[in-house]
Amino acid sequence: MQKRKLGKSGLEVSAIGLGCMGLNYHRGPAPDRKEMIALVRAAVERGVTFFDTAEIYGPFTNEEMVGEALAPFRDTVVIATKFGFRIDPETVKQGGMDSSPARIRAAVEGSLKRLKIETIDLLYQHRVDPETPIEEVAGAVKALIAEGKVKHFGLSESGANTVRRAHAVQSVTALQNEYSLWTRGPETNGVLQACEELGIGLVPYSPLGKGFLTGAMGKDTKIAADDFRAILPRFTPEAMAANQALVDLLKRIGERKQATTAQVALAWLLAQKPWIVPIPGTTKLHRLEENLGAADVELTADDLAEIQRAAGAIAVQGERYPPALMATTGR
Ligand SMILES: NC(=O)c1ccc[n+]([C@@H]2O[C@H](COP(=O)([O-])OP(=O)(O)OC[C@H]3O[C@@H](n4cnc5c(N)ncnc54)[C@H](OP(=O)(O)O)[C@@H]3O)[C@@H](O)[C@H]2O)c1
Repeated sequence: MQKRKLGKSGLEVSAIGLGCMGLNYHRGPAPDRKEMIALVRAAVERGVTFFDTAEIYGPFTNEEMVGEALAPFRDTVVIATKFGFRIDPETVKQGGMDSSPARIRAAVEGSLKRLKIETIDLLYQHRVDPETPIEEVAGAVKALIAEGKVKHFGLSESGANTVRRAHAVQSVTALQNEYSLWTRGPETNGVLQACEELGIGLVPYSPLGKGFLTGAMGKDTKIAADDFRAILPRFTPEAMAANQALVDLLKRIGERKQATTAQVALAWLLAQKPWIVPIPGTTKLHRLEENLGAADVELTADDLAEIQRAAGAIAVQGERYPPALMATTGR
């Protein structure tokens, strides 16, 4: 597996990482835990060195599972996790955003224990907390870096201005925002530009459009009530029918390149910038292998121009989150 560097930080990771959220959170009934641990280890065996989790996934159980899976490989992998929410340790009920320095410290102590590690390789703020100035957040992470509890600082779903302010206090290694062929905000909202200017790596989350851009879903797909996609405007049958044109485009390009639809979706992201590292998620080994194969799919300038032209003529229908959650992004 090829490697990439996350911006100027020098943090080197596999060109494609593994998003671990869906292994037991947000995607309907959780698959067998042992099988998911085996899947994470299979990813390591296939050259993946970049793993993404968060305190809120579960809460807590995703970090515990990822920690157990990666324990034998600690020295060869980069583990990223996130803080940013108030979580009752007893009931594990979520109580809104909280990036106060005390909460960040408590979250880090908990993540270190659950992940069974001494240092978090990459620690992201999950969402910008309007109650805590970003300078205070960056200062709190800076102190944790000085103590050796954290190596690199990241932000998630932040606006470009917030990234700049944070970076002025503690250099930001990576920004994890949603970016894919149907979520192209980073190209126009200053995020890609800020990353380029400041030497920050971009880690696109939901790079397969939460599954839609693979062609495996469509207007007739039944989404389980406990699958988070059930509440997302882009996953109504009407939106999926309208957005099918994007999947058809990826499929058409794939047929020409002997690549799958999912592989073209990922190869398109990889082709945007050399410091972009997508983190697709899957619970299935054959899909993991398919997704990693995207690193070998080379889109030519003509392919990219065709995608740009054709995608530009398709108006994506449906917001990516309901209004209350949309409001927590891009701050
Ligand atoms: N920072 C944030 O706020 C944030 C938000 C969301 C996600 N994330 C991170 O990003 C990671 C990935 O995001 P995501 O899981 O939302 O979306 P994604 O990676 O775009 O898509 C994952 C979905 O696509 C399906 N899939 C994967 N590969 C496939 C393939 N080759 N063919 C057909 N279907 C395929 C998976 O189903 P199967 O399991 O059935 O294969 C899964 O439901 C997460 O694990 C998490 O670490 C971060």
